[in-house]
Amino acid sequence: MIVIKSEREIKLMKEAGRVVGLVFKRLEESIKPGMSTLDIDAIVESTMLENDCIPAEKGYYGYPASACVSVNDTLIHGIPSSKIILKEGDLVSVDIVATYKGYNADACRTFKVGTVTGRAQRLLDVTKEAFFNALEFVKVGNHIGDISHEIQRTVESYGYNVVREFTGHGIGASMHEDPNIPNYGKPGSGALIQKGMALAIEPMVLEGKAAVRQLPDGWTIKSRDGKLTCHYENTVIVTDDGYEIITMYEGEEK
Ligand code: MF3
Ligand code: CO
Repeated sequence: MIVIKSEREIKLMKEAGRVVGLVFKRLEESIKPGMSTLDIDAIVESTMLENDCIPAEKGYYGYPASACVSVNDTLIHGIPSSKIILKEGDLVSVDIVATYKGYNADACRTFKVGTVTGRAQRLLDVTKEAFFNALEFVKVGNHIGDISHEIQRTVESYGYNVVREFTGHGIGASMHEDPNIPNYGKPGSGALIQKGMALAIEPMVLEGKAAVRQLPDGWTIKSRDGKLTCHYENTVIVTDDGYEIITMYEGEEK
């Protein structure tokens, strides 16, 4: 069931989204070689708590941390650890969900640790391009499949692949609501886009083959071929004349 959000609900989600943006701003300023992924988790958790938000991932189906922190060939759901130390040239994605007064905002950024290779930069650029291209299809009267198709089209046009096993999703009082938003699909398919829908759109991109594997920890998802991966996500609200992104901070680079 797709839940259309009221003005009041959108206001609460926007506050959660503002705090998500704040977290990313802090991370942009702090991520450096030598830090552990658990250090990142600590920044996420304290920033949310200091701003009256709850880190929604902690305890979600037993997930043990406040952020998913995924390095290089880890696509998603990397569990923060004091043993995973960032080094120059790494790509580290930080996927977070803040809850404010019962309402959620979900987003992910992939950060560069120091200077990265041209190969890594290209993957980053394409993943963001897929998101922003797809965003142009967030319009009342379009279909979810239009978003999905544009993500897939963009990613594959550069020779990369999208993951099949994980999708974007509706969001609101629950972290994951209908509809599912796959990163692949056909134009005109899926649910109709309506005003007041809240969508977490999240290209998850593999430099190599689309196949992934899960580690025995039950969470960590890596590329099977060990090649680089990238993830970019925002929560967006469908408005009369298009969309509003609620999880970017002011002045954030697109
Ligand atoms: N934030 C993720 C998403 O984009 C979900 C994380 S799963 C959790 O949907 F267990 F870590 F919460
Ligand atoms: Co999400």
